[in-house]
Amino acid sequence: MFLCLSRLSLRLGRVSRCHGDRRLIATVVSGTKTARDVKQRLVLQVEQMQTHFSGFRPGLVVLQVGDRDDSNLYISSKLKAAAEIGINAKHIRLPSTTCQDEVLRNILALNEDPEVHGLIVQLPLDSDKPMDQDLITNAVSPLKDVDGLSCVNAGRLSRGELRDCFLPCTPQGCMELIRQTGVSVAGKQAVVIGRSKIVGAPMHDLLLWNHATVTVCHSRTKDLPDQVSRAHILVVGMGRAELIQGDWIKEGAVVIDCGINYVTDESRPSGRKVVGDVHYASANQRAGFLTPVPGGVGPMTVAMLMQNTVISAQRFLQNQTRT
Ligand code: GUN
Repeated sequence: MFLCLSRLSLRLGRVSRCHGDRRLIATVVSGTKTARDVKQRLVLQVEQMQTHFSGFRPGLVVLQVGDRDDSNLYISSKLKAAAEIGINAKHIRLPSTTCQDEVLRNILALNEDPEVHGLIVQLPLDSDKPMDQDLITNAVSPLKDVDGLSCVNAGRLSRGELRDCFLPCTPQGCMELIRQTGVSVAGKQAVVIGRSKIVGAPMHDLLLWNHATVTVCHSRTKDLPDQVSRAHILVVGMGRAELIQGDWIKEGAVVIDCGINYVTDESRPSGRKVVGDVHYASANQRAGFLTPVPGGVGPMTVAMLMQNTVISAQRFLQNQTRT
C-alpha cells in the first residue's frame, strides 16, 4: 500500500490516489496560500493607487454592534489583512445597548463619507434592542456594500449581472478555490448545503451563472446523503459540525467546507478545537479535492473582502476623474 501511494505521489507530484483498496486521498486546496497570493496582488494595486493619486488609500469600515468573541476574532483578522495591504481600515464598535435608529444613523453618515469605500456591518448583530438585520444591511450604500449583502447587490447576482455587483466574500472565495482545482464548473452537478443569505443562497447563484446545475439543500431536505452523493462539486455552509460524512461523497468530488465550529477537545490546552461542516478524515478518503478547516475558506473570505474594497476604491477614483 505504502509503495503504491508513494510511487503515484511522485508521478502526480501531489497526494496520491489508489483505487485498488479504495484508499483515495484528496488533494488539499489551501485557502491560506491562495489568500496570500490575492493579498500580494492587492498590495501592488494599492501601491499604484498611492503613486498615481497622491497618497490615496482605500478605506474600509467594519461596524460592530456588541462584543461577541467570534465577531471580535473575525474583525481582528480583517483589520490585520487591511493593514498588510495598505487599506485604511477602521473598526467602530457600538455597545449592545445601541438602538436600531442609532445604528442606521451611523451607516448613513458613513455612506456619505468620501474616505470610506467599503462598509460592512459585522453579523450577527449582538444587541439588547430589537434589530431588523435586513433593514440594516440594506441601509449600506450598494456602492460601498463590499459584503454584497444588500438587496441591490444580491438581486444583481441572482440575475447573473456579476460584473455590476459586489459578490459576497465567502461564496466568492469558494469560487476561487474551485478554480484552483482546475475542475471546470460548467455542466457539473453542484450541490450547496445551506441557504443563508451570506453563504448558501449567493453560492447557488454564483455556481448557476458559472453554468453548473445546482441543487440547494437545507434543514428540511429529505435524504441528504442521496443529494450529496450526486455532487461533482459540493459546497457546505450549514453551521453543523462534521455533518457531511465521507461515504456520502461522490468519489473524486470537489468539496468546499465553509463551516467553522468549535467542539470539545480535552487533549488541547484550550479544551476545544475548530472543525468544519464536513467530517474531514472520512471525506479525505473519497473527495478528489478538499478544503481544510482551518486554513480553507476562512482566509479566502477575508481576502475577498479586501479585493472588494480595492475594487470599490478603484470605482470611486474612476468616478472622481470622470467628473
Ligand atoms: N459574520 C460572519 N461572516 C461574516 C461576513 O462575511 N460578513 C459579515 N458582515 N459578517 C459576518
